[in-house]
Amino acid sequence: MKANAGIVELFSEAEIAARVQVLGREVADDIGPDILLIAVLKGSFVFTADLMRALHRAEVRPQVDFMQLSSYGSGTQSKGRVEVVRDVGDPIEGRTVLLVDDILESGRTLSFAKQNLLSRGACEVRLCVLLDKPHKRVAGIEADFVGFTCPDHFVVGYGLDYAHYHRELPFIGVIEGD
Ligand code: IMP
Ligand code: MG
Repeated sequence: MKANAGIVELFSEAEIAARVQVLGREVADDIGPDILLIAVLKGSFVFTADLMRALHRAEVRPQVDFMQLSSYGSGTQSKGRVEVVRDVGDPIEGRTVLLVDDILESGRTLSFAKQNLLSRGACEVRLCVLLDKPHKRVAGIEADFVGFTCPDHFVVGYGLDYAHYHRELPFIGVIEGD
């Protein structure tokens, strides 16, 4: 059985690579060279690795740190409550932060993270997500930079998981039947 059997491709590896390069340029043009990139674990680690190299090509020298938040447990339903599982280590005060996540869906995760970073003295927090799923938004929050608008399906691959599987897929796909 092929490792990706039952998963239908939505965004190919080549499409993602091309879009992420452009996104790096968009961020660079908009917020300049001095940024603290904070990636929300675990889902955004693949995107972040490509985005920071796209930023390098656009002459940005980001510092990079991580914050692990949990809102979904291991299923596909949001618990509606966000917890910090691993906190940022770098100083945040006075920094322009680029908060990076894989998907913006209800908006609970990123509005929690944004408020948290602002309350700790970040001077500005801009949001960059690979995928925007606008259909289930409950928090009044929008991303400043979006890779792709995503249809209302549960997607996996390129860092995104279903029950901790499929993060390794080089493309983004939908589990058949969803
Ligand atoms: P929000 O708090 O509802 O905006 O959820 C955002 C988080 O839920 C993301 O960081 C993902 O980890 C997870 N998530 C939402 N939709 C999907 C999906 O389709 N596939 C995988 N993870 C998802
Ligand atoms: Mg996530």
